[in-house]
Amino acid sequence: MNQGSGISKYPDSALINKQLDELIKLPIYTIRPDALKTYVEEYFEKKCARSKQIIMEAQKIIPGGVQHNLAFNYPFPLVFTKAEGAYLYDIDGNRYYDFLQAGGPTVLGSNPIEVREKVIELLNECGPSTGLFHEYEYKLAEKISANFKSVEMFRMLGSGTEACMAAIRVARLATGKKYIIKMGGAYHGWSDQLAYGIRIPGSKWTQAPGVPLNCFKYTQEFFPNDLNDLERKLRWNRLRGGTAAVLIEPVGPESGTWPLDYDFNRNVEQLCRKYGALLIFDEVVTAFRLGMSGAQGYFGVSPDLTVFGKVVAGGYPGAGGLGGKREYMKYLAAGLDSGDKHKKALVGGTMAANPLSCVAGYYTLCEIERTNAAVRAGEMGDRLIAGLQELIKKHKLPFVAFNQGSICHLETVGTLHFSINWLKPWTIPKVIAATSERKAEMEHMGAAYMAEGLVTLAGSRLYTSAAYTEEMIDDVLSRFDNVFRNVAVKA
Ligand SMILES: Cc1ncc(COP(=O)(O)O)c(C=O)c1O
Repeated sequence: MNQGSGISKYPDSALINKQLDELIKLPIYTIRPDALKTYVEEYFEKKCARSKQIIMEAQKIIPGGVQHNLAFNYPFPLVFTKAEGAYLYDIDGNRYYDFLQAGGPTVLGSNPIEVREKVIELLNECGPSTGLFHEYEYKLAEKISANFKSVEMFRMLGSGTEACMAAIRVARLATGKKYIIKMGGAYHGWSDQLAYGIRIPGSKWTQAPGVPLNCFKYTQEFFPNDLNDLERKLRWNRLRGGTAAVLIEPVGPESGTWPLDYDFNRNVEQLCRKYGALLIFDEVVTAFRLGMSGAQGYFGVSPDLTVFGKVVAGGYPGAGGLGGKREYMKYLAAGLDSGDKHKKALVGGTMAANPLSCVAGYYTLCEIERTNAAVRAGEMGDRLIAGLQELIKKHKLPFVAFNQGSICHLETVGTLHFSINWLKPWTIPKVIAATSERKAEMEHMGAAYMAEGLVTLAGSRLYTSAAYTEEMIDDVLSRFDNVFRNVAVKA
């Protein structure tokens, strides 16, 4: 089977970052108020009445009315009843093209029969969990290890958040060092120590209300794409406890929203070797989406530890795991006494590695491999982005569209391209105000897309899957055309 890359052409990161720099200096281009009003009145109020009714009730008992940030949509969240292939269906019977793809795991498209049948078989024969070892825990670990050269061992956990927590614990145990340096803007789940510098580079602890400041004593961030900044921190840390690990999303913060230079990962790997820090790749989004060997296969980098999530349970619950080199993974050993005298990291989870997640994950990866799904999904991403770029030109808009294979970005306001500079503290309130104003407009754009039958991730990211066809993408583009026609500079 051809196991090509899910990225046919790496984006020109310098050009895109320049365009994004320009975008955030311009006035906001967004959906015209009259057009937004029509979408709200004619679509949401008239055609999503059951959703509205349920959400009104739900918010009395669920904070914010939804259980997940990504489920929030302006003017109110919709209630979905079915995800199938490239489509989502809401409770009022409306159909949408699905570019949220459950937040990323469904590279094959939603609920493929090949995986579903195996899950049903497992439920009939075994049940969803035993609390003990199941054969598919081994099969899934073996499948991941066979495709990721750097993953000699794999430990399944319950989520990407948990796997990131485990990764930094292992790194500290293995190196005896303290500091974790992450890239500003990147998301590595919501655990205390890593809720640092999220979304906006330079934002440090400010996006983590409820976390005591001393939790961040050994967490640092460096500026995306800035090797000098990273090296400065590595050098400085040598004098005060050393760097246990550099943790990065290999296509850039927020799944490549701030794209990285092609050589960046290889240069970071060299710096890690130079300073004796472990390199941790967070491949929660990129593993099996950018190809069977993930971002590390694409960039030719050998991280010491790799964080997995999402696709490793194929869109079923319980999606997380840590993989890596034997000499580090031994710090996770549970069960059989390896005879090693070193300490071991505490990790766990009652439902971690349950048979249901492992069967779903295993057959999902087999199916991605058999059908070359990452390449197919990437081709659909290319078509979508080429079409969006044409539309942006046609409507003379300053928007920026680019993709890393099936991870597609449509930046209309550039909220995540702002950064905070602590050397100029007087600029900080302005940045916070600008990002919240822009975020609100991104939500308005998201509402317009939704009303045109397009579900996006927060109005600016779109995951494609292998369930898309060229005809579907062309139809999608005609819907974006409808929205862009109604865009103007915000008054
Ligand atoms: C790069 C990255 N790391 C970690 C996580 C956290 O994973 P989870 O939501 O499974 O806890 C996410 C979630 O979106 C992610 O995108």
